[in-house]
Formats: sequence, structure tokens, C-alpha cells
Amino acid sequence: MSNTKLNAAKSAIELIPKKGAIGLGSGSTVAIFAEELGRRISEGEVEISVVPSSYQAYQLAVLYKIPLTNLDIDPELLLTIDGADEVDKDLNLTKGGGGALFQEKVVASASKKLVIIVDESKLVDRLATRFPIPVEVLPFSLGVVRRKIEAMGITPKIREAQRKIGPVVTDNGNFILDLQFPEPIQNPTKIAVDLKMIPGIVETGLFVNMTNEVHVGTEENAYILKK
Ligand code: A5P
Repeated sequence: MSNTKLNAAKSAIELIPKKGAIGLGSGSTVAIFAEELGRRISEGEVEISVVPSSYQAYQLAVLYKIPLTNLDIDPELLLTIDGADEVDKDLNLTKGGGGALFQEKVVASASKKLVIIVDESKLVDRLATRFPIPVEVLPFSLGVVRRKIEAMGITPKIREAQRKIGPVVTDNGNFILDLQFPEPIQNPTKIAVDLKMIPGIVETGLFVNMTNEVHVGTEENAYILKK
């Protein structure tokens, strides 16, 4: 099995404070991180609680016996550790490959620091190179949102569920549209704002100017990208 995700997770775990509340992102790289965090908690090395960013993250916390908290009790988090689908050279991100982008963005926005753990395959010059940009859409508004996105020259594709007929329904009861851009994005800030201006789009998978550090795992070790 590849060590790249493990090495990214091990690198980021060194940033965990001795005590306090942090955000727990979602995805397969975070799952590896959560196992190591659970071990450190059970061995008494740290006293950490987490705000989970999805049902998956919640289940990971339960599995690895990581104490849970929430944004009402801890509205300011010391940091969040999360994965990403693409990372550009300014450390802007595409997220939402697992459909968890909305709560992930709320948790990241509550954090003093956002630390991303990825392997090198996620690094791109510009976003939307290999991965479409997901947006979470209120089901009631699907038709009109689709029409407005198409008018921007972007192709929206509803994300279909696996092992269930019909669309993916997110942790918040919404649908996901995966947006195929004609070419990689030049100005992610503008695109993120334009998309958020469409009523019915509750959140986008573009995380612009939010990331502090990216820990990139390789087969041998990891390196850190900072702004
Ligand atoms: C979940 O919706 C995503 O934002 C994940 O954080 C992202 O897809 C990275 O996941 P992996 O670590 O599994 O690649």
C-alpha cells in the first residue's frame, strides 16, 4: 500500500496542540490522521476534542474514541486538518469529492488555521485541471441553478449515487452538481463569488484564501507548502 497519505497525516499530526478543540475534515487521508489522533488521545499524550465536518468524520471520531464537540460549544477552533481534491500554487483548493464540502467549509472558517493533507497527485497549477468543481444545491432550486450555470459557459452534472438510484443526497439533504469548466480556472475568487451569488447554491467546493499549510506526503516522507 502507498505511504503517501500516511506520511502527510503523520506530518500534520505534529501540529496538534496538547489540549483544545480542533476541526476534523473528511476523506480517506483524514481517516488515516484520525486513527493516529485517537492513538495519541488514548495514550494520554494530548487532550483534544473535534468538531466533525461530516457524518464520515463523526463516525471516525466514534471509531477511534476521539471526544466530540460542536461549534456552539467551541465556535473558535485552534486548527482544522482536512484533505483536498486539488491544490493550486496559491494554496486555493477544490474540495467536495466526497460530498462533504458545506460543513467542511464552515468548520474551516471557524478555525485559526487550516492545514491540508494530500499526496502529490493533488497539486495543480490551476484548479479544475483534473477535477470538476462541486457545488451543493438546494433540491428545490436545481432547475434554475442548472440553467444559470450553463449560461456561464460551464457544464453542470448532477452527482449520481452509487448503490442507490438517483442523485447523491448530502449530509444536509441537498444535491451536488459537479461543474465541468471549459478550461482550468484563472480567477478562483471571482468564480467562487459568482457561483455563490446564484440563489440555491448553498456552498461551493472552492476554498479560496483559506489554507495556511499544505502537507504533501511522498513515499519516503512529507514536505510543507506555506503561503
Ligand atoms: C470530502 O468531500 C472532500 O472534500 C475530501 O476532503 C477530499 O475529497 C479529499 O479526500 P481524500 O483524502 O480521500 O482524497
